[in-house]
Amino acid sequence: MIRQAIIPLAGLGTRLLPLTSVYAKELLPINGKVGLEYILDECIEAGIKEIILIISNRKKIIQKYFYNDLFFKKIIKAKKDQRILNEYKKIKKYKKMIKFVFQNEPKGTGDAVLKTRNKIKDNYFLMILPDDLIIKKNCSKDMILIHNKMNCSVMASMKVNKKTVNRWGIYSKKKQINKSNFYIKDVVEKPNIKSAPSNNAVIGRYILPKKIFKKLQKQTKGKGGEIHITDSIRKLIKDGEEFVGHTFKGKYLDCGSMEGYIKSSIEIAIK
Ligand code: G1P
Repeated sequence: MIRQAIIPLAGLGTRLLPLTSVYAKELLPINGKVGLEYILDECIEAGIKEIILIISNRKKIIQKYFYNDLFFKKIIKAKKDQRILNEYKKIKKYKKMIKFVFQNEPKGTGDAVLKTRNKIKDNYFLMILPDDLIIKKNCSKDMILIHNKMNCSVMASMKVNKKTVNRWGIYSKKKQINKSNFYIKDVVEKPNIKSAPSNNAVIGRYILPKKIFKKLQKQTKGKGGEIHITDSIRKLIKDGEEFVGHTFKGKYLDCGSMEGYIKSSIEIAIK
């Protein structure tokens, strides 16, 4: 059973400057709702019971968002507004499920995951990258179903334009299982066009084994001088750990770039 999810939120958000110079990108509204709440709702709907948010001192505002009880209580007392009351109830619900860990130096996604190692209880856990919004179908829920059936690691996959392979983790397939799922032979972080094994890209939904922490402890810097989760996944695959790629059915929205962020509000509004 997958009961815990982790969400790395310590990134600097430079692609969204100046919106992120004093604010956390994950708290920016997407069609009137805080971006992070879409991800939390996806987790809750998928049956997740505990969510670990990896933040940094720079992004303590995320913690404050969930711990602003005094402010809400005061307003609700003065103004009996049902809408505010409902929003506060929702935030209290999230608060019950979340824990925080800190990654104060942005050393990469692999390093962020490593910060949660003392909090992970089960053999497998879910990781969601908050820039990657998937709407219309709960990708995490579908991946958990695959995990329950096959008892292995699972990662989300999407075909991307060949010219953009150097922006993603790219899969090499071992064997197709059915229309939407395949066994992963290898995965390379941001390869150049010539060396890319395919145009099947890693999208930010991962069901990872607890074993990955052992690899992460020894993981050296990779592309761009960062510690990549992809590099440790690669080592696990080499050791024989089964990883399944899941081509998800929902619609992908890239909220980490300015163009994608603006488009995502429109896409959700017309949904
Ligand atoms: C990260 C991963 C990459 C993956 C991507 C999906 O890259 O390292 O493998 O394809 O997320 O969004 P980043 O967006 O942090 O550069």
